Amino acid sequence: MTLLQVNNLSIAYQTRTGTALAVDDVSFALDKGKSLGIVGESGCGKTTIGMGLLRLLPDNALIKQGAVLFKGSDILEFSTAALQDLRWKKISMIFQAAMNAWNPVQRVGDQIIEAIRIHDPGISRDKAKLEVEKLYEMVDIPTNRIFDYPHEYSGGMKQRAIIAMALSCRPDLIIADEPSTALDVIVQDQIIKKIKAIQKKFNIAIIFISHDIGVVADVCHDIMVMYKGRIVETGKREEVFVEPVHPYTKSLLSSYLTLDGVLEFQNESAPKSCLTSTDQAPGTCGFLPNCPQAEPSCASEAPQWQAISETHKALCRFCK
Ligand SMILES: Nc1ncnc2c1ncn2[C@@H]1O[C@H](COP(=O)(O)OP(=O)(O)O)[C@@H](O)[C@H]1O
Ligand SMILES: [Mg+2]
Repeated sequence: MTLLQVNNLSIAYQTRTGTALAVDDVSFALDKGKSLGIVGESGCGKTTIGMGLLRLLPDNALIKQGAVLFKGSDILEFSTAALQDLRWKKISMIFQAAMNAWNPVQRVGDQIIEAIRIHDPGISRDKAKLEVEKLYEMVDIPTNRIFDYPHEYSGGMKQRAIIAMALSCRPDLIIADEPSTALDVIVQDQIIKKIKAIQKKFNIAIIFISHDIGVVADVCHDIMVMYKGRIVETGKREEVFVEPVHPYTKSLLSSYLTLDGVLEFQNESAPKSCLTSTDQAPGTCGFLPNCPQAEPSCASEAPQWQAISETHKALCRFCK
């Protein structure tokens, strides 16, 4: 069953120097209980998509077009009251760098209890505390640590407590924005295992945002690769991670290292400049200046979607 269907979403930021399109005509769907990874380098628009889905964008952002259908209703048309009911209870978000945003002078458990009671004003403090105990068991933090201060937690614990908070209203969907990025590799691995286990056990859908394609492939059923605000390749994990076709995805994979430092995916097309197109026409491929597979027509013609399989497609006329 389709839980979330995003159609032709475009989001721009107004800045002093003009308008910049951060998300350009993005469409995707996510089924109940499935996980979708959004991967791409810093600045490609991942966080803007996540924030846009929940209408949490800053004031200078403008949703130019699109629809965000959650169980069939368009979030972009929701009233403030409907949004309040949606956020946390149905879709919760783990914000980028959230684990550093715990209030340092308030005990972690109190912060979670407060959040639970904001979203469920009828619940007593004792009942909310029992809830926190259950959540801590889910994310493997000893319950005798609930009322410690944030500085008494390790980085991994702080992040697991954030995950606990995201789970507190039993949402249908969690948007996790770089949830393991600030952690060292061992702790990163534990967090990823935890997220995978929770996703499976509670049948929660996840949108997992990361700049690291290895992490995304570890967690997600489907992968969407972004470059300069556009999706350039999308498909099942096996398709995109094992048999990528877009030159940008190939370059992402060629710079992906395993924990042993062994280059797992080596391809001849590591990024290097080829066609330097000073006269590149608007709407043409953003990856052109770095594309080792570019053809002369790429400088004048818009890229086209090419279907590789029923589920795998890439925004490039020459990909193979
Ligand atoms: N509040 C903002 N005002 C103006 N530009 C922004 C703002 N937030 C993000 N951007 C720009 O939008 C683009 C996408 O940013 P972002 O969604 O944060 O990317 P990512 O999460 O992939 O690193 C970048 O070029 C970034 O500089
Ligand atoms: Mg980001």
